[in-house]
Amino acid sequence: MRIVVTFDTPYGGWDHPDHERQMATEVAAWKHDEPEMEYQIADALRARGHEVVLVGVRNDLQYLVQCLGEIRPDLVFNAVEAFHGNAGLEYMVPGMLEAEGYRYTGSPPLALLVSRNKAMSKKILAYHGIRVPGFVTWRPGETLTVPETLRYPLIVKPLQSDASAGIAQASVVQDRAALVERVTMMHARFDQPAIAEEFVDGRELYVSIIGNGESFDILPITEMVFDKRRSRPEERIATQSAKWDEEYRGRKGIRNVFARPISRAARARIEEICRTAFRALWLRDYARLDVRLAPDGEVWVLEANANPFISYGHDMANAADKAGMEYYDFIQRLVDEAVARYEHA
Ligand SMILES: Nc1ncnc2c1ncn2[C@@H]1O[C@H](COP(=O)(O)OP(=O)(O)O)[C@@H](O)[C@H]1O
Ligand SMILES: [Mg+2]
Repeated sequence: MRIVVTFDTPYGGWDHPDHERQMATEVAAWKHDEPEMEYQIADALRARGHEVVLVGVRNDLQYLVQCLGEIRPDLVFNAVEAFHGNAGLEYMVPGMLEAEGYRYTGSPPLALLVSRNKAMSKKILAYHGIRVPGFVTWRPGETLTVPETLRYPLIVKPLQSDASAGIAQASVVQDRAALVERVTMMHARFDQPAIAEEFVDGRELYVSIIGNGESFDILPITEMVFDKRRSRPEERIATQSAKWDEEYRGRKGIRNVFARPISRAARARIEEICRTAFRALWLRDYARLDVRLAPDGEVWVLEANANPFISYGHDMANAADKAGMEYYDFIQRLVDEAVARYEHA
């Protein structure tokens, strides 16, 4: 197939040959430093025999429209994580692909918008009987009234960010004074509403899903584990450092591993929740759910990631590998899911 890999790039003015060169350099140095996700995807697709063209987008939709018009791809592999450097605008590119009638991998704008909004997605999941933490949101400038029913500790987050942006130990607050301080800081730093959720104590599990409708795989669950001797329950959260800072992870004993044993009942519950959530949030082809398994066996959904990170060696690719798909197979599988979806439509 002729596949365009489209992605967000900081390099304005770079065309396909520029990305080709950059990709060759990064892929050659893979052992020392991971290539950008889009280059890993392109490398995999090429290894599977596809004709691949790289189209990077920064803030120019017209450029993308023009490139696609010239290339006329059979499929677009959507690896866009932001538009204008803003992750909240990632839906713009699939929106354009819809408007222009191209076939593309992954979730549609609706799923991207709904799952990015941590309040909206929780409301939908609750409607479907899925347990989600109680929460309240405030837009910048709004008075911070807290519903009587909400129980501290609360965790404060930007409403529509990801990759643990704005999440630190200070995000977990025990009283109103700390809450006000953190919410004010989130408003100032992220210029978007803030959400405060009831803190759910439990194991931190990531559940990757591939498929649509009837053909639907729940991949082996991964877990972020914390050294219990070096932390209190409220400190066991995926802060920005816990996710991305290797030195910090080492020091604190934080690791991402395949999930330690999970009871049969909890596992069945997780799988049922994933199926329901995937449909309810209009997710497509692949996604990852962040859930917490409480000590009493209850499963709580923290959020759904409609556009999860799929680089080699990270949670979703590791889960796929464990399920028997090495990286190139995993990327090909995402293509197969998208193609099958259009053919059945
Ligand atoms: N309600 C909550 N209870 C306990 N921990 C939470 C809660 N919400 C978020 N966290 C912690 O913060 C991390 C990041 O929150 P999440 O909503 O997944 O945001 P992001 O989109 O940045 O990944 C979670 O993986 C979890 O460790
Ligand atoms: Mg998350």
